[in-house]
This record gives sequence, structure tokens and C-alpha cells, in this order.
Amino acid sequence: MIRLLVYLFINTFVTMADLKNILTEEKDGVLYLTINREDKMNALNFDTLEDLRIVFEEIEDNKSIKAAIITGSGEKAFVAGADISEIAGLNEVNARKFAENGQDIFFMIENCHKPVIAVTNGYTLGGGCELAMACHMRVATANAKFGQPEVNLGIIPGYGGTQRLTLLIGRGKANELMMTGDMIGAEDAKSLGLVNHVLPTKAEAIEKAEELISKIMSKAPLAIGMIVDCVNAVYLSEENGYQTEANSFARCVKSGDYKEGTSAFLEKRKPIFKGE
Ligand code: COA
Repeated sequence: MIRLLVYLFINTFVTMADLKNILTEEKDGVLYLTINREDKMNALNFDTLEDLRIVFEEIEDNKSIKAAIITGSGEKAFVAGADISEIAGLNEVNARKFAENGQDIFFMIENCHKPVIAVTNGYTLGGGCELAMACHMRVATANAKFGQPEVNLGIIPGYGGTQRLTLLIGRGKANELMMTGDMIGAEDAKSLGLVNHVLPTKAEAIEKAEELISKIMSKAPLAIGMIVDCVNAVYLSEENGYQTEANSFARCVKSGDYKEGTSAFLEKRKPIFKGE
């Protein structure tokens, strides 16, 4: 109990200024996050995961941030997995905590009510593939390589990969990728449904993500957040997704954006949504 209170006390004062391994830049309502451990292929160590937690708390709370794009630093990797130097010394108790901690943070990303797009270039492996899958969409560069190579280390994906990969590409292909540890290229990833779009370069992939985000930002923000809730309800066994959908639909009609969207259509003009 005391440890929990100390943890909560310390974290009350942690801000974006305390980030260790993530660079951030806000431009026109979009927060650009760059995982910045280029010399380690942007591997996700504990500090980087905590940075992600801080950033996603900020994204959810900060009204001026409307969307996020996550990239990896440099040209070689988006993220080449969890940091193997931290995995090497785990025991059964802290391994479970390790997985649950990563899962919690990736749930925050997946449940974020503002659109989050991963732009993946180069190695997108293990926890990197899991991070990309926790985002709402993925835009890859032609040189991106995806895989869940944990089996080569005697472990399995632990940040939600067994679940999200299966949902995204189906059981047979997910089993193949996880059991063989093989990497696949961006075009194959796209044909499997793991990736939304493939562009030749990182700059073009970021432009594509910006184009998607700009379109989404012109829509009703509350409705976008509810789409996130309903889509994620698909795989929560304790939740009836159809009920979530009906409840969310009913909440939409209480919003000013609903009145604006329907009036604008009838008045043959473009809607101006306010997110309320
Ligand atoms: N964790 C920690 N460090 C990592 C890492 C990871 N997941 N992936 C790469 N690195 C480090 C390497 O140890 C190396 O560090 P060093 O220069 O201090 O020795 C640096 O990043 C560059 O990697 P290197 O292996 O030399 O580059 P490469 O081009 O030969 O190979 C990969 C690139 C991605 C194929 C290879 O690094 C790799 O297989 N990484 C592990 C992938 C993995 O198993 N991920 C799942 C982890 S659960």
C-alpha cells in the first residue's frame, strides 16, 4: 500500500519534460512521437515504456492534441523489440509483471480516443510489432520488416501480440509467424492486413499518415473516440460489443456535433465539429 502511494505521489509530478527516450513535437494538433534509441534499434526498455505511459496520459488529457503519429528514430528500425538485456534476467514473478506492464501501456494506446498511427520503417519486431499493432493504423515504408521472433529467445510475445496478431491476420498466419519467428516484408504484411498502407520512403509514409489524420480530424471527435471503444470491444469477452455500439450511438445523438453534422448535410454545407 505504501509503495503504491509513493508510486502515485512520484507519478503525479512526472511530465512530458521528464521523457528519457521519446522525442515529441506538436504540430497543428498532431503529436509526433519518435522512439529515440537508434543505437539499440529503438528497443523498448523500461524507461521507454514509462515514457509511452506519460505521453499517452498527456494525449488523452490535453485538448490541443488531436492525434498522434509514432515513428522510430533513424532509417533502420521502427522498434526491434523489447530490450533483450532487460529480458535476460527475468524470473517467473517479475516476468508476469513485465508482460502486464507492457500490456497496460499498449492498452492505453489502443484505447486512446484520438487517432494514433504507427509509421514503421525497417525492423518492426517483437514488442515493436506489438506496439504498431496497438496503434489504430499502420503505415509502413517499403523496407519495413515485421515479425514476432520471441520464440528464438525461448519466450513468446508478451505485450498483447498473441492476441492482436491473431485478430489482425487470422489464426493460421499468426501461428506461422509466431512459431517460426520469420520476418515478412511490408507488401506481405499489407496483403495479410497487418499494415494499412505501404509507401516507398519514411517521408512519404509520414505524409500518408498525416493525410489520414487530417481527414479524421475533420470528423466529429466524439464519434471517433466511440469508434475506438466499439472496435476494441470486439475482443473483450466481458463486454458485448453490440451493446457498446448501441450505447455509444445513443451518446452520439446527445452531442452538438450530431446536430451540426446532420444540419450541415441538410443545409448542403460542410460541418464544423467542436468535439462536444
Ligand atoms: N534489445 C536490445 N538491444 C537490441 C535489440 C533488442 N531487441 N535489437 C537490437 N539491439 C541492439 C544490438 O544489441 C546492437 O547493440 P550493440 O551495438 O550495443 O551491440 C544494436 O542494437 C544493433 O543491432 P545489431 O544486431 O548489431 O544489428 P543488425 O543489423 O545486425 O541486426 C536485428 C538487426 C534487428 C535483426 C537484430 O538486432 C535482432 O535480431 N534484434 C533482436 C530482435 C528480437 O529478437 N526482438 C524481440 C525481442 S523480445
